Amino acid sequence: MAVSGQPPLLLTVTCLCLCLLLQSCWTQAEELQWDESGYVLYCPCMGRFGNQADHFLGSLAFAKMLNRTLAVPPWIVYRHHTPPYTNVHVPYKEFFQLEPLSAYHRVVSLEDFMEKLAPKHWPLGQRKAYCFETAAQRSADKKSCPMKDGNPFGPFWDYVGVDFDGSVLFGGISFSAYHQPQWMKKFPPAEHPVLAMPGAPAQFPVTEEHTALQRYVVWSEKMVTEGEEIISNLLIRPYVSIHLRIGIDWQNACKMLKDGDTGPHFMASPQCVGYNRQTALPLTMNMCLPDLTEIRRAVKLWVKKSSARSVYIATDSESHSRDIEKLFKGKVKVVTLQPDSAQMDLYILGQADHFIGNCVSSFTAFVKRQRDVHGLSSSFFGMDKPGKVNPKEEL
Ligand SMILES: *[C@@H]1O[C@H](CO)[C@@H](O)[C@H](O)[C@H]1NC(C)=O
Repeated sequence: MAVSGQPPLLLTVTCLCLCLLLQSCWTQAEELQWDESGYVLYCPCMGRFGNQADHFLGSLAFAKMLNRTLAVPPWIVYRHHTPPYTNVHVPYKEFFQLEPLSAYHRVVSLEDFMEKLAPKHWPLGQRKAYCFETAAQRSADKKSCPMKDGNPFGPFWDYVGVDFDGSVLFGGISFSAYHQPQWMKKFPPAEHPVLAMPGAPAQFPVTEEHTALQRYVVWSEKMVTEGEEIISNLLIRPYVSIHLRIGIDWQNACKMLKDGDTGPHFMASPQCVGYNRQTALPLTMNMCLPDLTEIRRAVKLWVKKSSARSVYIATDSESHSRDIEKLFKGKVKVVTLQPDSAQMDLYILGQADHFIGNCVSSFTAFVKRQRDVHGLSSSFFGMDKPGKVNPKEEL
């Protein structure tokens, strides 16, 4: 009956599970050893999710450059129109997995750092803030880092449970790789174990070399399950997803472009005009703020090219879903949600067969980078082939 010499399948599986379990326990315990090479802490205090994500990639690279563990901060979600009407701090792992980041560099969640490491290794009374001299100029005594001044700074460090006991100022140094030796020399980890900063030690938008770090930002299982459920319930593949960034604040921002107050490099635009300032392509109004004619044109083109059977619209204001439905005389299903979280929009945008985004938006940039990782096609309003001027605008 039973095959001799082979352990029963169930036993093998149980044993395997136990081994995996033990290993993960062991890894976790090891993760929470104090890192003698030090830590980088920062507040993702600039902008909403898209900007925070750009800053996250740069900060991850910065921590690796200094060979310090990155304390991964929570996302700051601004809930000013819905209860509780304050900032919500959402742990990184709610939306993404922490583990894949470790393939690039050592990380710990800021929450775990505070709970398990800080009490012993970064005790009360020894919590110093690190900032540019120029930032300290804003403080009353001109010598203190403005760590908790105003929103979102104060609420963030209150969430983390930190008051700062002193400030260390620096100047003449940037976050780029060029200054790596200066950082190492100025702040040896033995004397400066924890570099806590008021903002991300990174540029906005993310530099070209760091865009590839997007591959380590992997959705949490919860997001995947919920996202896939929405997609299979509401959308029919193939589907085209679009990001409409057209609200009043954006109209005001794009006015700068219209008035000639900005060049082609404007917020996240390097993603489509190119990162090199000298060779950047022109940034057109349609790329910043597509009008209905351009929205219709691009959607029609890509629905046809991808033989799409549905369209998913993520919008910051109007969805134009009626206008888009009319384009296809009811043959293409048009779906727009008001999801609870912006991240669910990002997930659905990211899974589409084709994505049309807004070149200037960092929200779009997140989707575009993620799709690039998986080799999925994307375009922008006003630019059908990323990095190439649209034919009729070539004149
Ligand atoms: C980087 O940090 C790790 C962990 O603290 C340490 O084992 C390693 O020796 C460091 N590498 C260098 C080049 O200092």
